[in-house]
Amino acid sequence: MKLIVGNWKANKTLEETKVWWSVFSKTSFPVKACEVVICPPAVYLYQLYEMLQTSRFPFPVKLGVQNLSEFPGGTYTGEITGRMIKNIATYAIIGHSERRRWFGETAQSVARRVVQALDNGITPIISIDRQNYVQQLDQFDKNMLPKLMFMYEPQEAISREIGPIGEGTPASFSDVSHMVTLLQKLSPKSKILYGGSVKSHNVSEFLSLPGIDGVVPGTASMNVLEFIKLIIKS
Ligand code: PGA
Repeated sequence: MKLIVGNWKANKTLEETKVWWSVFSKTSFPVKACEVVICPPAVYLYQLYEMLQTSRFPFPVKLGVQNLSEFPGGTYTGEITGRMIKNIATYAIIGHSERRRWFGETAQSVARRVVQALDNGITPIISIDRQNYVQQLDQFDKNMLPKLMFMYEPQEAISREIGPIGEGTPASFSDVSHMVTLLQKLSPKSKILYGGSVKSHNVSEFLSLPGIDGVVPGTASMNVLEFIKLIIKS
């Protein structure tokens, strides 16, 4: 089943979250062979979790976080740990290039976050880039690899905040296919997703690339109408 992972990044107020959900949950979607994951800012996770319990969709809808502490818990003020979100979030995006860039996350700290996710039954979606993928994958125990999902997202493909659904130049299909081949050589059983300017007009092409198990739309998922369109087109 293909995965569609909406990453809201650091956006939305509680009120905006409720409006987004009210439109999304009232939409009558066609039956789809996909799983939809919403990754809101962590402060809205429980609110969405509660609203999700009373909604019905013709495909699975799950929640994810955009980051996870590398520590199990304790004297780490401000951290959100795997234990706190266990059974609420099914997935965790880990090591997003924005976190590596603005918050100094390293391949080693990403690996520690991944261990915390797995220890709490959360599937990690690890962001990988073309330049460092060997070093990034090297951090994981070989027996852990089949449980990991990788998201190939070249930094330059991320949407800029222009217009309601952002603008950016997605990676070329040949670049994505090339990365899929490289990643499959190192970790044949991991699922591989693509992220970077995925929109309703290009989602079906990315999803039809061999070896691609899903997509991670960011800006396109923040705009509920565009996200609905993207799911319908997937
Ligand atoms: P974008 O972002 O779809 O807005 O390019 C995706 C992401 O960075 O997760």
